[in-house]
Parts: sequence; C-alpha cells; structure tokens
Amino acid sequence: MSAALRTDGLTRRFGARTAVDRVSLRVEEGDIYGFLGPNGAGKTTAIRCILGLIRRDAGEVRIFGEAHPVRQRRGVGAVVETPAFHPGLSGRANLRRAAAYAGAPAEDVERVLALTGLADRAGDRVRAYSLGMRQRLGIARALLGRPRLLVLDEPTNGLDPRGMHDVRRLLARLAAEEGLTVFISSHLLAEVQQLCNRVGILHRGRLVAEGAVDALLSGLGEGRAVEVEVTARDPERARAVAEGLAGVTVLPAGAGRLRLRLDGLDAAELNRALVEAGVAVSALVPVEHSLEDLFLRLTGAEEAS
Ligand SMILES: Nc1ncnc2c1ncn2[C@@H]1O[C@H](COP(=O)(O)OP(=O)(O)OP(=O)(O)O)[C@@H](O)[C@H]1O
Ligand SMILES: [Mg+2]
Repeated sequence: MSAALRTDGLTRRFGARTAVDRVSLRVEEGDIYGFLGPNGAGKTTAIRCILGLIRRDAGEVRIFGEAHPVRQRRGVGAVVETPAFHPGLSGRANLRRAAAYAGAPAEDVERVLALTGLADRAGDRVRAYSLGMRQRLGIARALLGRPRLLVLDEPTNGLDPRGMHDVRRLLARLAAEEGLTVFISSHLLAEVQQLCNRVGILHRGRLVAEGAVDALLSGLGEGRAVEVEVTARDPERARAVAEGLAGVTVLPAGAGRLRLRLDGLDAAELNRALVEAGVAVSALVPVEHSLEDLFLRLTGAEEAS
C-alpha cells in the first residue's frame, strides 16, 4: 500500500537560505500527522511545496502514490494561512462558488456545512463570522470534492481555546468517521499530543524525528536514567548546585523550571545533596515525558520558548 503522502529529499531554497532541507517524510493512510517545528523551521514552505503552490528545488512528492501534480491535487484538500472569503456573501454562497469553481457537485456544499457544524449559520454573511467559524469554513471548502487527504497549516492559529477545541474535535471526527488522513502543522505541542498519532519534527529545515507519538516518547526514557523536576525556593541556586553534582545532567526545560537526568544516583540522594548544599527543595517529582520534552531536546530550549 502506498503512503497517503510521502516526500523524498524535498528541498527548497530562498537565495542562500535552505528553508526545507532534504525532507523525507511519510504519512500513512488514516494518520493524523502533526508536522511540528519552531517558528521559521520551514513548515509552511514545505507545505507549499507539497501542495505545488511553490516550486521545489529538489526532491519528490507522492500523494497516494501519485507523482503527477495535477492528478495529485484531486486527492487533497488544503487550508494554508488564513482562508480568504467574500465577506459580503454567506458561508453557503462562498462554498457554492468554490464548488462550481472546483467542479464539485452542488450537494457537496450541504454535506461539508453539516460536517463542519456550520449548517445553522450558513445563511449569514461571512463578515459576521468569528475567526473560528471562518477557519471551519476554510476546512469546509477544503472538503469539497471529497479529498482523502486534508493538509492544514496551523489550523488553530489565533483561535481562542473554544475555537481551538472545536477545530481539534472536527479534525478527529473527520479522521474517525470520514476516514480522512490529516496532516497539520503546529507549534502547539499539547495540541499535537492530544490529536495526532504520528509526528514529524522539523528543525532548521530538516526533519529531525518522525514516528508514532508513543514510540518517540518512550524512546526518551532510554536506559535506566531517571528524570526529575525540582521545585526549589531559589531555582537559580538549585540549578548551580545541580550542575556541580556528579551523575546529574541539567536538561532543557521551560522557563523557571529545573529538570535533571540522574545517572547513578537516585532521587533521595539528589535531594540530600541539594539540601546539604543549602538548597531548600519543596518538590522533586519524576518526569512523565511529553512531546514538549522531545521537541525541546531536538530543537534547543532557547529557540522554542
Ligand atoms: N518567500 C520567501 N522568501 C524568502 N525567504 C522565505 C520565504 N518564505 C519563507 N522564507 C524563509 O524560510 C524559512 C522558513 O519559513 P517558513 O515560513 O516555512 O517557516 P514556518 O515553520 O512555517 O514558521 P512559522 O511557525 O513562523 O509559521 C524562514 O527562514 C523564512 O524566513
Ligand atoms: Mg508557517
């Protein structure tokens, strides 16, 4: 079986800068694939290349095994950046125009309105839509013509928590009930961890990790090393002391947090060593790995914050 989407050596340069650098990724049919990376990593550029919106300098793109750009497009619906609509027309009228333009049947409009939960408001002018509704209208438009792969660039960008939740739930439902393969870029790690079964992590144009979320996270706990998060009254002093202890490595973590890997001493010994050095420790908790840890490790803590 061929992958839903596969790139081999995908490369795009802007002048001397290589925005997408030999990216070979693979999205299996039925995946909800999260394409992660810090700002400027090259996500949008890669997506534009995949969709044939900009040319690529090297590499191949196959969508359901198809390499021909025009035939590829039939299988794909996409939302890249904030979708533009005619503000004076209703959501339904916008979709009818888009359907006519794309050669999709008119009945498809009601189907995608229902799928995206917009049927009630379909007669309102788009001008009166919230950002979340516009985003869902963009997804509705991408679903015209029944694509099997949906490609979305930061679909929850700028939405409030309710709007984000609605879009996530919609994508999960499209995957589960409509059998769609979903490819989304994001820099929201918690979102991707909730929604996606597989991820690829892009850093400075390169794919630095790819795989099932579970497998990537369990790979973080390699060996018998223990990781702990330390809460101390004076975190800076705690860090300085920890850096001087044998068998302790300070790991990248979010601002104001101190995370340590212990090799050859246990949490109680660490606690004792900190206390003996005059650090008041209020909590010392074993770490449960999250996608954020993996992301920070692969992309560098300072750039991702
Ligand atoms: N049209 C362009 N001309 C020149 N450089 C570009 C162009 N588009 C993107 N770049 C550069 O390519 C790199 C990747 O940008 P891109 O927008 O793909 O990143 P991104 O991962 O989508 O970032 P973000 O999370 O901020 O959306 C950046 O260094 C950017 O400045
Ligand atoms: Mg982008």
